[in-house]
Amino acid sequence: MLIRILHWSVFLLFIGVILSGYRQADSGWSGVGFFDRDMVHIVHETSGILIVILITCWALIRASKIMQFRLLTVYQKLLVIYHCVLAGLGLLIGMLGWMASSAGGYGQKLFGVLPMPNIFPKLGADWAVLLNSTHADLMTWFFIIAGVHIVSALFHLLVLRDGVFYSIWFSGKER
Ligand code: HEM
Ligand code: HEM
Repeated sequence: MLIRILHWSVFLLFIGVILSGYRQADSGWSGVGFFDRDMVHIVHETSGILIVILITCWALIRASKIMQFRLLTVYQKLLVIYHCVLAGLGLLIGMLGWMASSAGGYGQKLFGVLPMPNIFPKLGADWAVLLNSTHADLMTWFFIIAGVHIVSALFHLLVLRDGVFYSIWFSGKER
């Protein structure tokens, strides 16, 4: 059950972090309204940091089953590797954003109030720009890998109807 809660929390946080990420990077936006620039920044920073924390917990829970890996079939092994690449890329993108704000010395807060530690030395604005552009560039890969994941999950749900989708949903049998 914990894995399912983690999976869908991370999914919802990704929606928040992606929408707020592109919104705050949109130079044509006036930045005013209920979700003004400050609010959008808080949503982005908070959901990004929570994604980093939750994916790390998820990996630690799954790592306890590493001994079972060699018992899996080749197909199951490839599937585990694919899921690791997907979650690992999400984690990397989040860490790069966090590293960029640490490098620039801008600081980062959860919910706009709770200061979070720096995870990278304060090396200046040039480093912040470099880390941040890598942060943004990796999104293309994330969309491709997550897109394949989502399409195949829906294929299992709507066409194959084999219970794979429900293994991560709240009603089915856990795998
Ligand atoms: C997995 C988590 C994250 C995802 C998927 C994500 C995604 C994005 C996206 C899509 C953009 C817009 C890119 C563009 O310029 O086209 C962006 C920008 C940015 N992100 Fe993230 N982000 C994440 C976590 C973080 C974290 C944890 C921080 C800081 C603590 C952060 C700080 C920033 C900053 C400063 C920008 C630039 C905004 C601007 O240009 O005004 N991100 N992010
Ligand atoms: C509409 C969105 C999504 C759907 C329908 C979906 C569906 C699924 C399904 C059906 C499984 C079980 C597959 C199996 O056990 O073979 C699964 C597992 C997984 N999904 Fe997603 N997913 C979605 C979004 C995401 C996102 C955004 C991530 C990014 C981190 C993600 C990461 C994972 C991982 C790492 C697993 C393996 C879970 C484990 O066993 O620990 N998913 N997903």
